[in-house]
Amino acid sequence: MHCTRKVLEDLIWVGADDRRLACFEGVYGVPDGVSYNSYLMIDEKTVLFDTVDKAVSQNFFENIAFALDGRTLDYLVITHMEPDHAATVKNLVLRYPGVKIICNAKIKTMLAQFFEMNLEDNTVVVKEGDSISVGRHELSFVMAPMVHWPEVMMVFDKTDGILFSADAFGTFGALNGRLFSDETDFFNENLDEARRYYTNIVGKYGPQVQAALKKVMPLNIKFVCPLHGFVWRKDFEKYLEKYLLWSSYAPEEKSVMLAYASVYGHTENAANIMAKLLVERGVRVRMYDTSVTPASYIVSDAFRCSHLIFASTTYNAGVFVTMENLLRDIAAHNLQGRKIAILENGSWAPTCGKLMRDILTPLKNTEFIGENITIRSSAKDSQLAEMEALADAIAADIR
Ligand code: FEO
Repeated sequence: MHCTRKVLEDLIWVGADDRRLACFEGVYGVPDGVSYNSYLMIDEKTVLFDTVDKAVSQNFFENIAFALDGRTLDYLVITHMEPDHAATVKNLVLRYPGVKIICNAKIKTMLAQFFEMNLEDNTVVVKEGDSISVGRHELSFVMAPMVHWPEVMMVFDKTDGILFSADAFGTFGALNGRLFSDETDFFNENLDEARRYYTNIVGKYGPQVQAALKKVMPLNIKFVCPLHGFVWRKDFEKYLEKYLLWSSYAPEEKSVMLAYASVYGHTENAANIMAKLLVERGVRVRMYDTSVTPASYIVSDAFRCSHLIFASTTYNAGVFVTMENLLRDIAAHNLQGRKIAILENGSWAPTCGKLMRDILTPLKNTEFIGENITIRSSAKDSQLAEMEALADAIAADIR
């Protein structure tokens, strides 16, 4: 049986939740699941906005059949070819062979790459600023390259002020019966997962996100329909503010994100001492063991916090594996404008501090606070002054 919801009388959500997926994109744990959103517009023409991941295709096709109510499907608009939204395109075309695909030239190229079927006669190629009338609704097209694939475009329905925003403004987490962001306590309950989604999926492309936002912000937006998570009909400006912040790499908080990698607990002890010294100075600390917390959560808080401390043991003459993975992930996501301090440990050759600096030095507008603090096997009372000096410097900077 169908499980649909109305965004408006003539716009129906026909997507589905997936709560069994272990790793989104093969990397990001989604303990609260994820939704794949697709929307069907019922007008003189019927228009489907994107499809879904193959995992939920059965629900999706039941939903479409219900929402079409005996009509055929006239148009499929593809805003993004990543398979979590486009895997079902071929199956859709086989079920509705008369459907015309509205897409841009890059999407058309990718369609041919992903699917071995001749869609040449089925496609309508649009470009920036084009409009198509489907009856009462007039759809215009806004290219949003690298948010977060090169072919991405957004669609603005000028008639009812609906922005189909592709992956932008999405979030991890199943909808669980809800559809609108005002049906949950979004900024208390869902913002962390929205941040983790943005920073890990799109975070590398801040300038491209800013360019897309600049194009859509002047539009008279009343609804935002992303491909994951909630539809926005209220308080969208508050969420937009977060996107402006995240995409500019400005921290949300004057606080410390402290991540450590420790084999036998001595580096962890040094990290605990650093955290305590900071808290005693009134600094908020968000602390993670890189061997316990998946990197995506730590990357998310690295975007959130103004100051970062990394503490690692030396391992195989390098950086401990979970710390190295984290640092490379942070560098790959283009984080910038942070102040960073480093602690290294090593029983015979503590060399990881320099290697950690080498990974982080290319980050734009990033400063290191002081020299690396070096621990030999375990932190000693004689090193307390050095650690207190670092805590003083960070606390002074944050104040
Ligand atoms: Fe949700 Fe970029 O796909």
